[in-house]
Amino acid sequence: DRPVLIAPSILSADFADFGREIRAVEAQGADWVHVDVMDGHFVPNLTFGPPAVKAFRRHVTTVMDVHLMIAPVDPYIEAFAEAGADILTAHVEAGPHIHRTLQAIRGAGVKAGVALNPGTPAEAVAPLMDAVDLVLVMTVNPGFGGQSFLDMSAKISAVRGMIGDRPIHLQVDGGIDPSTAPKAVAAGADVLVAGSAVFRGGSVETAEVYGRNIRAI
Ligand code: DX5
Ligand code: ZN
Repeated sequence: DRPVLIAPSILSADFADFGREIRAVEAQGADWVHVDVMDGHFVPNLTFGPPAVKAFRRHVTTVMDVHLMIAPVDPYIEAFAEAGADILTAHVEAGPHIHRTLQAIRGAGVKAGVALNPGTPAEAVAPLMDAVDLVLVMTVNPGFGGQSFLDMSAKISAVRGMIGDRPIHLQVDGGIDPSTAPKAVAAGADVLVAGSAVFRGGSVETAEVYGRNIRAI
């Protein structure tokens, strides 16, 4: 049994008090802090740029996991690396040169992740296994917190097979809660991103499924 890591997404945190929210989830056992960067172009929503990410860095003592939902990616890699990201994940759909993007992320001294939208097949990342430290299988169409989980079990299993014995994380993101998390883990996921389940409606149920009491409120 591989350990399952929990990465709360601060997209569902109190935007007026990120420091407190980050400290709260870390105090309750979060393994990573997931930061959703959206550009209003690749996805229909706007969130954080490098200065905000740099400010979050002052509070994150675990791992700052930055999910880039932006296109293009390459012009911003250096800025997000300098902002203190430990992991930068780019979408395979964000441009024609994902391999170049992943090389640039590693070249900036940051771990590289590649993300797949729900409509993109697992095969899109097969050629990238030696270029990544993480594969993110989206379980919602990216852009917003609080959406319903899409069952991507077959894709998760396929990616787990591609990973083989490489030290690559398999992350899921979107609609992860006490009832959906076990499905994703059973299919092969080892990093669970959760936004609304952690920052809103935190409950005993949530704590039971995650095996830890990860709630900011
Ligand atoms: C969606 C983001 C997610 C989002 C998940 O585009 O990538 O990280 O915060 O939120 P929940 O857990 O509420 O689906
Ligand atoms: Zn995300």
